[in-house]
Amino acid sequence: MLRGVSGSAIPGPRGLPALGSLLELERDSLGFLTETARRYGPVSRFRLLHRFVVQLADPEDIEQVLVRCAADYRKDRFTQDLARALGQGLVTSEGEHWKRHRKLAAFAFTPQRIAAQAGTMVDAALQRIGSWRAGGSLNVHQEMSRLTLDVVCRTLFHTQLAPGDEATVERGMEVLNHFFAEALESVLLVPPWLPTPNNLRLSRAIARIDAILLRMIARRRAEPAEGGDLLGALVHARDEQGVGLSDRELRDECMTLLLAGHETTALALTHAFYALGTHSDLRRRFQQELVQVLGDEPPDATSARDLSLTERIIKESMRLHPPVWAIGRQPLRDVRLGGHDIPAGTELVMSQWVVHRDPRFFPDPEAFDPDRFLPERARALPRFAYFPFGGGPRVCVGSHFAMLEAVLLLATIGQRFHLELEPGARLEFRPSVTLRPKGRGLLATARSNLTPRHHSNDL
Ligand code: HEM
Repeated sequence: MLRGVSGSAIPGPRGLPALGSLLELERDSLGFLTETARRYGPVSRFRLLHRFVVQLADPEDIEQVLVRCAADYRKDRFTQDLARALGQGLVTSEGEHWKRHRKLAAFAFTPQRIAAQAGTMVDAALQRIGSWRAGGSLNVHQEMSRLTLDVVCRTLFHTQLAPGDEATVERGMEVLNHFFAEALESVLLVPPWLPTPNNLRLSRAIARIDAILLRMIARRRAEPAEGGDLLGALVHARDEQGVGLSDRELRDECMTLLLAGHETTALALTHAFYALGTHSDLRRRFQQELVQVLGDEPPDATSARDLSLTERIIKESMRLHPPVWAIGRQPLRDVRLGGHDIPAGTELVMSQWVVHRDPRFFPDPEAFDPDRFLPERARALPRFAYFPFGGGPRVCVGSHFAMLEAVLLLATIGQRFHLELEPGARLEFRPSVTLRPKGRGLLATARSNLTPRHHSNDL
């Protein structure tokens, strides 16, 4: 039993003698976390081998950790392990290093700079769907991943990957996600230096992506002008002593932005297409909005503001199927949360999957209802009942970029295609760093929606 300084016991499942709750977590991490919160309350604990994990499921406590007392916490062990792939990029770094890089990155994500990328985002979408045939079948997640990877490369790195490099990055990201899904599920922590097939596969995948990134960085170093994109700004940044970022630091940031910046948005879009494919009424309303707001024109940063249902569909998709399904932290000192004393170094988990399904905030939580995010209803929610992008100083640096991108891409695709899901298609997940579809993923047939007049006939 985990006891804090005051001896107050935190409730939770007993688990098995040696393993604790490891097998249950392995079998169904989403179900296990949800059940633990429902049964044991807003602060619960479970054991994995010899380590206790405390789950926080109350918005107040989550706000305390992420915002009000953020300085008392560091990232959790799983995120620290991600450094094997991401190095000391924004997601994994701490302290002064993180502060300096965050300031540099924030430059690329001002509202004006994000809005200026809208045309590039729409162009990337038009190019990708240009290769789709009406009646052809698609793997929705794969298509969305290719598209959002292209958007990140074009907007943040001012580059377009050659087809061979695109395939290398795509395969590398598969290996990475597979590796970290296994790391989450496995009983034994395998040291990174052991030449196991998984370790070798990960090292090779990282080395191949590194080669592409280092080539891109060398090319940008050779250019005298900044170019106005994030990579240009990072390459030309100098500290007070006039020292710039090393190739290693640049590589770590590029790898981080590549992973954090495309996989998450691709999942939000995949989950939105799933919702549209399974709710014909919603699809009708979505098509009406596209016709009313856009007519035959592609969306841009200004018209996107009027695509309010489209935005709510993305928000509701991220409520039910949050691309980042849990955030972890470790207290740097003994802390008090929800009436319990929690020792320094305890693993804390705050799961969007769990909190976003709390019926106190989202009645009939499994129902897909974008109107939960109508302004008057959204205003009534406690601040951390909904936190797809985290919060506080470590809040997602790309959240506004991601929202604009998701709305523009959903609308651009929706103007031309309806993705008809395979009969019986279901979203099932294999949680890794992100909430990825299991197995073959979501398969669909692309049905043409060519002109606005035809939209209504199609329906
Ligand atoms: C729907 C899309 C996205 C979702 C759901 C999402 C979610 C998140 C979450 C929950 C965090 C906080 C993790 C924590 O506190 O431990 C985070 C951090 C981060 N995200 Fe995103 N993200 C998305 C899109 C993006 C995009 C498009 C970019 C970049 C272009 C990006 C870059 C980052 C970075 C660099 C961090 C680390 C920030 C820091 O610690 O300073 N994300 N994201």
